Amino acid sequence: MKIILNYLLQGIVIFLITQCAKQENIQKEEEQVIDIKDTPRDPHTFANTPQTIMEHIELDLNVDFKKQQISGTAKINFKNNGSDVIILDTKNLTIESVKIGDRETPYTLHEEIPHMGSALEVSIDTFTTSISIKYSTQAGAEALQWLSPSQTSGKRLPFLFTQSQAILARTWVPCQDSPGIRFTYKASVQVPKNMLALMSASNPTEKNDDGIYHFEMNQPVPAYLLALVVGDLTFQEISDRTGVYAEAQVVNKAKSELEDMEAMLKAAENLYGPYQWERYDVVFLPPSFPFGGMENPRLTFATPTILAGDKSLVSLVAHELAHSWSGNLVTNATWNDFWLNEGFTVYFEYRIMEEVYGKDVSEMLSLISYSDLNKELEALDYGEDTKLKLNLAGRNPDEGVTSIAYEKGYYFLKLIEQTVGKENFDDFLVKYFNHFAYKSIDTESFLTYLEKNLLDSFPEAKATIQIDKWVYNTGLPENCPIIASTRFANVKSAADTFISENVLNGSAAREWLYQEWVYFLRNVSDSITYRQMALLDKDFRLSNSGNSEILFEWLMLAVKHDYTPAYSRLERFLKTVGRRKFIAPLYQAMADNPKLSKRAKTIYTSARPSYHFVAVNSIDKILNVSYSE
Ligand code: BES
Ligand code: ZN
Repeated sequence: MKIILNYLLQGIVIFLITQCAKQENIQKEEEQVIDIKDTPRDPHTFANTPQTIMEHIELDLNVDFKKQQISGTAKINFKNNGSDVIILDTKNLTIESVKIGDRETPYTLHEEIPHMGSALEVSIDTFTTSISIKYSTQAGAEALQWLSPSQTSGKRLPFLFTQSQAILARTWVPCQDSPGIRFTYKASVQVPKNMLALMSASNPTEKNDDGIYHFEMNQPVPAYLLALVVGDLTFQEISDRTGVYAEAQVVNKAKSELEDMEAMLKAAENLYGPYQWERYDVVFLPPSFPFGGMENPRLTFATPTILAGDKSLVSLVAHELAHSWSGNLVTNATWNDFWLNEGFTVYFEYRIMEEVYGKDVSEMLSLISYSDLNKELEALDYGEDTKLKLNLAGRNPDEGVTSIAYEKGYYFLKLIEQTVGKENFDDFLVKYFNHFAYKSIDTESFLTYLEKNLLDSFPEAKATIQIDKWVYNTGLPENCPIIASTRFANVKSAADTFISENVLNGSAAREWLYQEWVYFLRNVSDSITYRQMALLDKDFRLSNSGNSEILFEWLMLAVKHDYTPAYSRLERFLKTVGRRKFIAPLYQAMADNPKLSKRAKTIYTSARPSYHFVAVNSIDKILNVSYSE
């Protein structure tokens, strides 16, 4: 109860502070071109900002694979604006003690609130600026995935990785877990002697004898970018500032797949300014990683399902790399502004792809986005969650992770680009990333900056774009850009011919890029017959495709059209891959097919223990099952 009162009280204090600030701002506005509006209240943190604001954390941790537990101390330095209490976010953490210097200080670990966890309220003096928390994680810490040796390539040693975005950092580190609060960090991590630990920080490239690794991140980052991975990992350099980490069985394949990484980095820098994070490395995790990629600073975490052998799926790396600007430098202030992270990143990703692999490729990617977007709009019933600016208060911010932020966000930015011209938009973006570097901003701050620094010089553009419709209305405005692709036009006619005449020109199709296969399969998806699937499978071995994107589209068709010969591949896929983007729609399609719904549950029951919490959380809902741990 007290915490709820506290929460309300904070709201009132912040409201008063912001009102005063607004008065002051009115005078300043003239000479000052922009500014971040009064920091919005993040509905997903208990942190009592601005009374206390975390600035630095020093972690001293031990990773115990036997107990599947991380334990140690977190020393937090913070700015104290005269508060006698600091409130942190935690979820399922066991707190042993909280100290100011050597002296224990009283604290309350409040009752858990769904999605949010438990507020940790620590008594301090009004001049205290540092506390030290002794704690350990509990079974079921949602950020952590502990893998058994059998889930790794080497099969000898276990593996651990964290996934902190959106609000899971609090399940392994007590902190002010809001994208609006940035801090630097240092860590010392003890792991079993034959394993390597890496973080979203300065990293070792080799195992050492004592199993203790030291990390430093001197650029302030929000909690969702805290990351740790521990495994039997090795390193291969790609250029003098890029490289890959993976298990020995995977690392060479990873290196050749990503050989264009330096070229991508250069292309990105040519577009929007110098890379700010010193090194850019990628670590390939085992296939149970629930995402395609996660933009942990300096060290992207990636799924091995992009290792197709022909570099065809590297747009994922372009995407995570792009986050080094959009997301990691300029960060969404709350998860309601998530499109600022992802929409910009998709736009930037396609620009990098265009530079490195050509316009054909970026056009095809945009069109696949368009098809994803339309599917998502339908799935969300053109409802509230199809607005760019979301309202996720009281919900799990994971509900905002939809194609709206990514694809609608992308098309909004594409529209601005087309309206003002690419050069003008690029100049603007360079300024934007510079201006807000190391800051967290909300949608409104972006829109104000956009008006003052770009659209004010293009009065007609403003009328054309209709910003409010894009940002604050549901659905997709009718002025959404239309992108043309000659290659896709050809694929479309190949798809029509195949459906009506059962012929597909093999020599052309064998040259197709994966995007063309995906587009083809989506185009035939409604009308293809079992016999036609068998024909395709015979000629192009789609059930055995080594390209995860093609295989996924194919398995979706198999489920939809009862193409039984692909079922064993489907089962194997679901039992080895944990990437939510693939497995959630497959389970959904199986649940929708009365002939497969039982099988979906059987497979899920056996595969579920090998999935990460975020995947389990989604799929439990899809299959309408609940398991008590
Ligand atoms: N930051 C996201 C992943 C994420 C978002 C994790 C929200 C948790 C909450 C990452 O950059 C991302 O977008 N990954 C995509 C790949 C991309 C190419 C669209 C993914 O994992 O599929
Ligand atoms: Zn992203």
